[in-house]
Amino acid sequence: MSNIDKIKAELEQFGIDSLENLEQFRLKFLTKKSELQELLSEIKNVAPEERKNFGQQVNELKQKAQQMYEEFKTKMEFQAVKANNIIDATRPSTAISTGSMHPISIMMNEVCEIFEKIGFSTVSGPDVEDDWHVFTALNFPEEHPARDMQDTFFVELHPDILLRTHTSSLQVRTMEKQQPPIRVICPGRVFRNEAITSRAHCIFHQVEGLYIAENVSFAEMKQTLLYFARQMFGEETKIRLRPSYFPFTEPSAEMDISCNICGGKGCALCKHTGWVEILGCGMVDPNVLENCGIDSTKYSGFAFGLGIERMTMLKYRTNDIRLYFENDVRFLQQFKAAGDL
Ligand code: DAH
Repeated sequence: MSNIDKIKAELEQFGIDSLENLEQFRLKFLTKKSELQELLSEIKNVAPEERKNFGQQVNELKQKAQQMYEEFKTKMEFQAVKANNIIDATRPSTAISTGSMHPISIMMNEVCEIFEKIGFSTVSGPDVEDDWHVFTALNFPEEHPARDMQDTFFVELHPDILLRTHTSSLQVRTMEKQQPPIRVICPGRVFRNEAITSRAHCIFHQVEGLYIAENVSFAEMKQTLLYFARQMFGEETKIRLRPSYFPFTEPSAEMDISCNICGGKGCALCKHTGWVEILGCGMVDPNVLENCGIDSTKYSGFAFGLGIERMTMLKYRTNDIRLYFENDVRFLQQFKAAGDL
């Protein structure tokens, strides 16, 4: 026990003020041959009734020595760095990694901005909808296949509640709330019960557009969509409208743009036609206007809906829609610069 007191006193008196001193401290208290270490190996020889007390004190001493050593070491090293002026204040700091915008968000914003420039305002609405806003008000006949379980996700136990299959539901919500003139653009997520492949997914995004006023013509729709295509894909872009059918528009059309990869000569993307389909459109059916409380004898208008994934694939030339949902950082990072603009 007297040795313990002796070492304790020595420890308390030991002042460390240099790296050499620090080494002496280590040799004196922490190496295998130090007195303190010898005391540790003595524990087993102490009489059993004293062993517990003895062992505890020696161990406390050892911990104290170790702690003092670490503290002094840090202090000495810091002083050495300061004395030698080792800190390089000009060294660039570690880069902080930031997130980036998702390509789908970049594209949705871009589409909305193009239409905002010509007076459209952006509106949004619920992903979980009812039958009226997605189908009935939009003039879908009772037996239309889009209402089928194979296409639409219904909320179990409530056949009237479903995940919207298109953003056209926002046309209805807007017209129910507002009288013409109406000029809105509606971005959003949509859901369809489809097998997931490189070209189709059960979740995707659309932007819907709606313009209702007096005497709106098909020619105005065509010019608006031409403006959009040129803003999005470049001034040299051409468009063509093909007759089509949607329950909520009459007449209806699908719009193609000249293929921006082969410049119209024909390639795999445009299936050698020189054209790529990007949206559906048409003059809003009078039934839809009436369903939403708008006088169809006074007002007319046009609507269109475009698929964001498809546009993003065209613009960034990616060939698998699943990439947009897997969120692999190596894929997403490539859109950093585009999102920062
Ligand atoms: N809702 C259609 C779809 O999901 C797209 C569409 C076509 C929207 C024509 C419209 C339109 O507003 O007029 O395929």
